[in-house]
Amino acid sequence: MCKKETILVTSALPYANGPIHFGHIAGAYLPADIFVRFKKLYGADIVYVSGTDEHGFAITVSAQQEGNTPKKHVDHYNQVIQDIFKKFNVEFDNFSRTSLKHHYKLSQEFFTNLHKANKISEKTTDQLYCKSCNMFLADRYVTGGCPHCEYEEARGDECPKCGNWIEATELKDPKCKVCCNTPVVKQTKHWFLDLGKFSDTLKTWIDSKKNWKPNVTNFISAMIEQGLESRPITRDMDWGIPVPLEDAKGKVLYVWFDAPIGYISSTMEWAEKKGEPDKWKDYWHNKDCRLVHFIGKDNLPFHCVVWPAVLMGQSDYILPTDVPANEFYNLEGKQFSKSTGWYVDLDGFFNKFQSDSIRYVIGANAPETKDSAFSWKDFQNKHNGDLADTLGNLVNRALKFTASYFDNTVPEASVLSEADHTLLKKIKETFTTLENLYDTYQVRRVCYEIMELARVGNRYFDEQAPWSSRKTDITKCAATMNCTIQLVKAIALAAYPVIPDAAQKMWHMLGYSHKIKSTNWLEEKLIQVPAGQALGTAEVLFSKIDDKVIEEEIEKLNKMVSDEAEATKEKNVPKITFEEFQKIKLKIAEILKAEPVKKSKKLMKLEVSLGKEQRQIIAGIKEGYSDPEKLIGKKVIVVSNLKTAKLMGLESQGMLLAAHDDTGLHLITPDSDAKPGSEVK
Ligand code: 2FM
Ligand code: ZN
Repeated sequence: MCKKETILVTSALPYANGPIHFGHIAGAYLPADIFVRFKKLYGADIVYVSGTDEHGFAITVSAQQEGNTPKKHVDHYNQVIQDIFKKFNVEFDNFSRTSLKHHYKLSQEFFTNLHKANKISEKTTDQLYCKSCNMFLADRYVTGGCPHCEYEEARGDECPKCGNWIEATELKDPKCKVCCNTPVVKQTKHWFLDLGKFSDTLKTWIDSKKNWKPNVTNFISAMIEQGLESRPITRDMDWGIPVPLEDAKGKVLYVWFDAPIGYISSTMEWAEKKGEPDKWKDYWHNKDCRLVHFIGKDNLPFHCVVWPAVLMGQSDYILPTDVPANEFYNLEGKQFSKSTGWYVDLDGFFNKFQSDSIRYVIGANAPETKDSAFSWKDFQNKHNGDLADTLGNLVNRALKFTASYFDNTVPEASVLSEADHTLLKKIKETFTTLENLYDTYQVRRVCYEIMELARVGNRYFDEQAPWSSRKTDITKCAATMNCTIQLVKAIALAAYPVIPDAAQKMWHMLGYSHKIKSTNWLEEKLIQVPAGQALGTAEVLFSKIDDKVIEEEIEKLNKMVSDEAEATKEKNVPKITFEEFQKIKLKIAEILKAEPVKKSKKLMKLEVSLGKEQRQIIAGIKEGYSDPEKLIGKKVIVVSNLKTAKLMGLESQGMLLAAHDDTGLHLITPDSDAKPGSEVK
């Protein structure tokens, strides 16, 4: 028996700043959960940790916008996020939080160790400062054009499009995220991690990663080759982990400095809960431990440059063995975005659909080497075609036939035909293929192999036609059903990491009362369901999804987008100060004359009285008021201090106030007693 593999698996700590979506699940959580479930079955000594990332500017901005303290905000979203993981059946051994005290202590220790080792330097630099919000802008507090790829909504720390690091001061046309104003440049003191001092060690380390995805190693090698500059790892704010230095009052550690340390503090918490407080060291201080970080590609620089450097600056910590970074998983071709309504409401989703359906659909199209996307049609096709028609049908046929003709008991396979042998061989080979695919994080191909096994099974069943051999050769029929049942068992075991609920149901249908998770892959793959075993009751694994249900979801998505667009338009109306408002002079006016402007579809020429003076106003009101007679004598509100403008060659000395809605245009009229010329305040 070979030595048990020791593995520590982490998934990127999601920000406790909002719900997570399919994109996150596809990038960092489902592939990890599948890998961990497999390795647990395989008998590895494995621990899977994550937790919420609870610091950073973005959290304080959202908390402020929602009228909450950051603490309340993160408490809330930590729970929201944990509930979402439960729905997806993503099972951590420990899910922690970076706001816990022991995480603060460990992060400060990490900083201190680097500082003492002379890997951190102090610098006073130019930073963006928002005068109206009275704060320094960094990270997600500021947006602007990416200096590398021109993407317009790059953040002050990185570009979500090209993944490059950015210094906020490099952003083109930067804007404060809170108030949309243009920030100024102001000096402040910060502590910088001297990445350059780690260049050589990092280069040797990344060069040793021969089995990593080439896009990952190429990207990181290029970053190192371009030259690593010192990166600020402190921020001016009060929400976060205080910088453990006398002269650093009001400064906290940068969220990206403390977040990955959360992997360690989460493992410590796991060990503590187990009652073996030192057990975390069996992973983090064990050079034989395989440390695997599952992340989305946007997190690459921090996991493959900064984080290993931070670890190198400590004593005795292992470095990441593998960083299976995934590309982006979009929604119908565009990035998920709650703020634009382009997302799938998860409560609604899980009220209608099974966790296994979305796990399989994401897995089968996982963004492993290029971006991929969820689409409602693809969801329906894969659910109906693969899960219901192929897998569900196979299980149903096997169970129903055995119930009807073999008293719901596994029949004996006393003589095996060539076709039976071929099927059993295929099962064996698939197990071997899957072991390699699971081990190398190739979830797409895992899904393909599992479904291929079910397809082979259906073809075998059709060709062996037990409904016919039942009448002519009951021994052959019994062997066919025995082999089909072995196949169902093999698929249950093989597919458990991807579709755990359905696999467990299949297990029960085969007459087992224990949990698949308590079995051992290597032993179990060799064990056949014994002849004579009483089967359970056949259940439908996956019911088909109607076209109507999918059409409703597509409509819902379109509606959410238009509702959000409307709300955003409203939210984005620029705010003005009271002083600015006071500059606008509104007055009551009475319309004395009105005539349509020739050759204009919209304009009316009006003569209005403002008490002591009369003015000509050219107003675009024909749409609602085509009859000039009806305008005469009407009292209206005008902007009286607008600069004179020329419209179709005619001078306009003001502007009328009017509202526009879906019923048309409506002039704003004051109470009939209001005197022309009186000021509106
Ligand atoms: O991008 C993100 O969502 C970060 N919160 C990921 C942090 S991963 C790790 F370092 F903790
Ligand atoms: Zn601002």
